[in-house]
Amino acid sequence: GKHLTTLIGLILVPIIIAYYHLFEGDRDEYDRRYSSFPDTLKLKMKGMAKDMFYFGYDNYMKYAFPEDELNPIDCQGRGPDVINPSNININDVLGNYSLTLIDTLDTLLVLGNVSEFHRAVKLVIDTVSFDKDSTVQVFEVNIRILGSLISAHILLTDPKHPFGDVGLDDYDNELLHLAHDLAVRLLPAFENTSTGIPHPRVRRERVEGDLRLLNNNSGPLSVLNGDVEEAICMHAFYYAIWKRFGALPERYNWQLQAPDVLFYPLRPELVESTYLLYQATKNPFYLHVGMDILESLEKNAKVRCGYATLHHVVDKSKEDRMESFFLSETCKYLYLLFDDDNPLHKSENKYIFTTEGHVVPIDERFREKQWNDLFPCEEGVVTDQETSNGSFSINNSNCDRVSEERRYSLPLKSVYMRQIDHMVGLF
Ligand SMILES: *[C@@H]1O[C@H](CO)[C@@H](O)[C@H](O)[C@H]1NC(C)=O
Ligand SMILES: *[C@@H]1O[C@H](CO)[C@@H](O)[C@H](O)[C@H]1NC(C)=O
Ligand SMILES: *[C@@H]1O[C@H](CO)[C@@H](O)[C@H](O)[C@H]1NC(C)=O
Ligand SMILES: *[C@@H]1O[C@H](CO)[C@@H](O)[C@H](O)[C@H]1NC(C)=O
Ligand SMILES: *[C@@H]1O[C@H](CO)[C@@H](O)[C@H](O)[C@H]1NC(C)=O
Ligand SMILES: *[C@@H]1O[C@H](CO)[C@@H](O)[C@H](O)[C@H]1NC(C)=O
Repeated sequence: GKHLTTLIGLILVPIIIAYYHLFEGDRDEYDRRYSSFPDTLKLKMKGMAKDMFYFGYDNYMKYAFPEDELNPIDCQGRGPDVINPSNININDVLGNYSLTLIDTLDTLLVLGNVSEFHRAVKLVIDTVSFDKDSTVQVFEVNIRILGSLISAHILLTDPKHPFGDVGLDDYDNELLHLAHDLAVRLLPAFENTSTGIPHPRVRRERVEGDLRLLNNNSGPLSVLNGDVEEAICMHAFYYAIWKRFGALPERYNWQLQAPDVLFYPLRPELVESTYLLYQATKNPFYLHVGMDILESLEKNAKVRCGYATLHHVVDKSKEDRMESFFLSETCKYLYLLFDDDNPLHKSENKYIFTTEGHVVPIDERFREKQWNDLFPCEEGVVTDQETSNGSFSINNSNCDRVSEERRYSLPLKSVYMRQIDHMVGLF
C-alpha cells in the first residue's frame, strides 16, 4: 500500500506542478487583475465617459457661456483677468472668445451628437469675435482655437461624411473665415524672429519678447514615433504615479520619490497615451488604466458644476477652474478608449489628432511621406502604401500584426510592473 501511494505521488506531483505552471504558475495578481475586460464593463465605462463630458459641457453652457471657461465650484464663468494683465496663467489662454465652446466642437461629433454640434457651430459663428484687446499666447491659441476651427470646418464639409451627413445647409465657410481672421492676428508673432521660432505672445501689433523653450523629450507619446516599446514602459511609470495619488502631479521627483509640483489641472496626456497604446496593442490592460482614471476623476475632481483642477494631489484640495482641454481632450480620449465602433476607428476613415486632440481627416493631398513607415500598425489612422507610380492603394492588413501575446498578456512583465509600483511608493 505504501509503495502504491509513493508511486501515485511520484506520478501526480509532476503533473500537478506542470498543470500549475501551464495555467496558474505565471499568473500573479497583476495578470489576474489586468488580463481581460468584459464587453459589458466596456459599455459601462463608455457611458461613464459620456456622462462625464456632458456634466462638464452642459454646466459650461448653462453657467459660463459665452465666457471662456467654467468655474465648476461656484458655477460661474471665467474670462481674462483684466485687473491683473500679468496673470499669464489665466491670460495666456483666456481671450474672451468662448474658448471652451470652440475647443469642444469636434468632441460633440466624436460623441455622435450632430444636433448639438450644429447648435454649437452656429453659436460660434454668431457670437465669437477676435477683435478684442487681449494679449494671448501664440502656441495655446494656435492649438486650442485655430486648430479647432479648422477641424470643425473640415468635418462639416468633408465630402466623405465619416460621421454621417453632418453638413449645415446655410454654412458659408464662416469657421474658415474666423480661423483666417485669427491667423492674421497671430502673424506678427512670426515676424522678425532671429530663431524662426515665433514670439510667445501677441497683442494685436505689439509682440512680446523672450522664448519658450521647445522640448523634445520622448514621453509616453513616443508611440506616435512608432516606438511602442518605449511608450509602454514610460506609460507604466506614469500610471503607477496615477495609482498612488489618483491623479498626476504636475511634476514628480524620482530621486525623492515624491511630487514636487502638486497640482493636477485635469490634463489629458496620460489618457491620451493610454488610448494610443490601446489602439497599438489592443491589450485589455489599457482599458483597466482608463477605468482607473475615470473612477479617480469622479472621486477626486467632481464638484457641483463640473470637474475641478486638483490644487494638491495628496490632500485633494481643489481650485475653481476647469480648463478647456478637460472636455476637448481628457473626456474625448476616455470615450474613444471604450468606443470600439466609433467612426474614427473604421479602417476606411483616416485621421490624425492635433496637439489639442482635434480630429483632422487626412487624405493623400496632405501627405508626403510613406505613412506606413511612421505608423506601422495603427488601425483607423493611416496605413496606405504608396505605389511606385505615385497612386495610393489601401492595405490594412498591417493592423492585424499585433501578436496574440501582446494582446493577451501584460504589456510589461508583472515583475517589472511590481518594481515600478514599488519605486513610486505604492507599497
Ligand atoms: C468680452 O467681450 C465682450 C464683447 O464681446 C465685452 O462686452 C466684455 O466686456 C468682454 N469681457 C472681458 C472680461 O473683457
Ligand atoms: C446632445 O447634446 C445635448 C446638449 O447636451 C443634449 O441635450 C442631447 O440629449 C444630446 N443628444 C444626444 C443624442 O446625445
Ligand atoms: C519687422 O521688421 C520690419 C522692418 O524692420 C518692421 O517694419 C516691422 O514692423 C517689424 N514687425 C514687427 C511685428 O515688429
Ligand atoms: C528629437 O528626438 C528624436 C527621437 O528621440 C531624435 O531623433 C531627434 O534628433 C530629436 N530632435 C532634436 C531637435 O533634438
Ligand atoms: C499605377 O496606378 C494604377 C492606377 O492609377 C494602377 O492600376 C497600376 O497598377 C499602378 N502601377 C503600379 C506599378 O503600381
Ligand atoms: C496587403 O499587404 C500584405 C502584406 O503586407 C499582402 O500579403 C496583401 O496581399 C496585401 N493586400 C492588398 C490588397 O494589397
